[in-house]
Amino acid sequence: MAAFIGMLIAITPLALLNSCSTFPRSIVVPAEIPGARLVGNQACFACHPNYVQQFPASAHARLHFVPNAKAGPSGCEACHGPGSLHIAAGGGRNKFILNPGKDSAACFKCHLETHAEFNLPHRHPVLEKKMNCVQCHDPHGSDITKPSGGLAMSRLNESCMQCHREQARPFVFEHEALREGCVVCHTPHGSINAKLLIERDNNLCLKCHAQTQGSLGGVGQILIGDEDHTDKLKLGGCWSAGCHTAVHGSNFNPKHLY
Ligand code: HEC
Ligand code: HEC
Ligand code: HEC
Ligand code: HEC
Ligand code: HEC
Ligand code: HEC
Ligand code: HEC
Repeated sequence: MAAFIGMLIAITPLALLNSCSTFPRSIVVPAEIPGARLVGNQACFACHPNYVQQFPASAHARLHFVPNAKAGPSGCEACHGPGSLHIAAGGGRNKFILNPGKDSAACFKCHLETHAEFNLPHRHPVLEKKMNCVQCHDPHGSDITKPSGGLAMSRLNESCMQCHREQARPFVFEHEALREGCVVCHTPHGSINAKLLIERDNNLCLKCHAQTQGSLGGVGQILIGDEDHTDKLKLGGCWSAGCHTAVHGSNFNPKHLY
């Protein structure tokens, strides 16, 4: 189906190239169904009106493939595959249509970088089929509280909370970092670092808690959060040295437990 690749259109840029590498973040390749051709989103309306109506708010609504120029946008078929045989068969489950809710392979055709992330040593078990993209992303854009034009979630912590109640629950002494979302410290797909952390060492915390030179203790004194950390830093990492062991919040001690 290499022929399709050359025929794509309408969204710019076609290949979203990562500026610091030659590895493309995403490319635009429609899903394939042998023998089927593209029919356009409106052809789905008769039987799936809700999806077609809510879809224009989705980032994928802009996807469009040239063979279908006259039929209008073909975003639905980007993920579900060309719809002609599905419609000719009168629709139905497993009838000439892909459901990426059952297999994320359709998403990975375009999202190469995301695919790579799920292959990193520490990851959410999507490739292992224990989880799916839709547990964190709404593919049709139905949730109006999401940012317009995006599938990225505005209520990040809520979607994580479905499965990680312990970290996302309210605490007596909250750690305000969580207000910016779990993703200020964790990568959602996969990471080279344990626990899906963005940084493996103190730099994770120093992003927000500046390390300053003390004036009272003389040369070499290190202050973090106005506290003298000169000797403490020798003990190891902020959370692994046994100091801030409750990074998500604490019900007991605001300073030492998180
Ligand atoms: C970004 C990829 C993507 C696009 C674009 C997309 N869908 Fe889907 N669709 C999915 C995924 C993923 C699921 C599985 C959802 C789930 O299991 O909750 C799904 C499920 C469905 C289902 C089955 C729901 C069920 O009962 O199991 C229908 C019908 C559907 N989509 C129609 C459409 C129509 C019509 C469009 C265009 C207006 C569209 N989709 C655009 C990804 C997409
Ligand atoms: C003639 C009516 C009809 C049309 C037109 C139609 N579908 Fe369907 N489709 C169905 C029926 C019926 C089902 C089964 C739904 C169910 O059991 O709840 C279905 C199921 C689906 C599923 C779920 C498949 C699965 O295996 O879980 C997807 C995805 C889907 N349709 C996408 C589309 C897309 C995309 C279009 C437009 C290109 C489209 N449909 C056009 C009738 C139709
Ligand atoms: C555990 C939840 C989770 C799962 C599962 C998940 N995502 Fe994400 N994804 C996110 C979050 C959260 C963001 C926003 C990241 C940010 O803002 O830093 C995101 C962002 C993205 C982006 C935007 C680019 C980027 O990397 O920031 C793409 C594309 C994407 N996800 C695709 C996918 C696909 C495809 C799947 C399934 C194969 C998937 N995601 C599964 C949580 C998830
Ligand atoms: C035909 C190619 C294609 C397929 C298939 C595809 N995507 Fe995308 N997706 C894109 C493109 C292109 C963009 C960037 C749109 C833009 O520029 O805003 C995108 C954007 C996204 C974003 C980020 C939105 C944002 O605002 O940052 C997420 C999340 C995402 N896709 C998830 C998925 C998931 C989950 C699936 C499978 C259910 C999927 N995509 C299937 C091409 C595709
Ligand atoms: C649908 C359930 C589900 C959702 C939603 C989910 N996770 Fe997970 N998470 C898992 C599973 C399953 C694992 C793997 C546990 C394992 O391998 O032992 C995991 C592992 C993790 C780990 C690593 C834990 C460890 O011990 O290495 C972190 C960190 C994490 N998730 C954060 C998040 C964040 C942040 C979000 C929201 C963006 C999120 N999760 C959404 C199910 C989920
Ligand atoms: C301020 C940074 C930060 C934020 C924000 C954050 N985490 Fe973490 N998280 C960490 C660190 C550091 C660890 C590793 C702790 C350890 O190894 O003892 C961790 C560990 C985890 C683990 C593994 C727990 C275990 O016992 O192995 C999960 C799951 C997790 N976080 C989920 C989340 C969720 C869900 C959110 C959002 C509600 C979130 N985190 C927000 C820093 C953060
Ligand atoms: C996204 C920014 C951000 C990150 C990353 C972050 N924090 Fe915080 N943290 C805050 C904010 C905001 C506060 C509340 C204001 C303050 O006390 O500085 C806070 C408060 C604290 C406090 C309480 C201080 C007090 O006196 O009550 C501790 C302890 C703390 N953070 C430790 C950590 C550790 C350990 C890490 C790394 C795992 C970390 N923080 C990462 C933003 C962040």
